[in-house]
Amino acid sequence: MSATAIFVTAIIGAGILVAAGVFAVAWKRGPSAGPIVGDFDKAAAKRDMSRKPEQTSRKPEQTSRKPEQTSLKPEAEVVPAVDADGEEELPVPAAIEDDREAISEEDLGVTRRMFLNRAALGLFGGGFLGTLGISMLAFFWPKLRGGFGSKINAGPLAALRAEVVPGDGTIKPLFFPEAQAWLVPMEGSSIPGSSFEGIPAVAGADGGDSGLMALWQKCVHLGCRVPECASSQGFECPCHGSKYNFHGEYDSGPAPRNLDRFALEEDAQGNLIIDTGNVLETPRAQVKTIAYPQGPSCL
Ligand code: FES
Repeated sequence: MSATAIFVTAIIGAGILVAAGVFAVAWKRGPSAGPIVGDFDKAAAKRDMSRKPEQTSRKPEQTSRKPEQTSLKPEAEVVPAVDADGEEELPVPAAIEDDREAISEEDLGVTRRMFLNRAALGLFGGGFLGTLGISMLAFFWPKLRGGFGSKINAGPLAALRAEVVPGDGTIKPLFFPEAQAWLVPMEGSSIPGSSFEGIPAVAGADGGDSGLMALWQKCVHLGCRVPECASSQGFECPCHGSKYNFHGEYDSGPAPRNLDRFALEEDAQGNLIIDTGNVLETPRAQVKTIAYPQGPSCL
């Protein structure tokens, strides 16, 4: 799948998740939802209308000016009540009559705050889950369409065979990075009685030609990458010294079995198909199909 297709898929997926979130919020609101119903609080309105300006305990500023004399009789002086600290006491309001009617949760329905909370939760939750899902899909997608872990077309088998068998009596393993595998030749006549009889480890061995095997480069001991050794005509692991011949058959060292290999097939066009999702394990070879070592070791 192309990058554009993945992007479009991601957008569509995110849209579906957001729509699902909004739908979930609307569904949660329930069938009893409706306008907010309640009575006007008349007592509160009366109190607001009759509220006097706030009284303060500040004493008036003293001035040196004498009060002006008038012919009017002064009004009787009202002495405010004071408390123990000399502060003026404010009148205690009469008990407030509360004639408000309680509204049940059912009548109240979903408030604006509740709706916004749920909508935010749905949107952000849906967005997070959508992003997570798309990321995981993108992570696993390549394995579904190709790359290591799937079937890999290595190209024309005849051309690959010519590379690994130069014709001078030696073998030149060909490393195929996409499959993490060494391609090595295998004679069809050597298969019966070997560790590879009855398993799809060899391709192209029909008609007298050498077939090919694909050896996983990972050492079966602890997983180090195993390089070839041209002088000894084998694979020698630099980590703990396990040695295998050029057919990947165990020779010495702590490795518990032969090198693993991938299942092979030849398609209708003569291409070698390496199934890196199908790993073939074989026990230590009892009968070796090729001699080792044929020269000095590389370790
Ligand atoms: S990892 Fe290869 S011998 Fe230990």
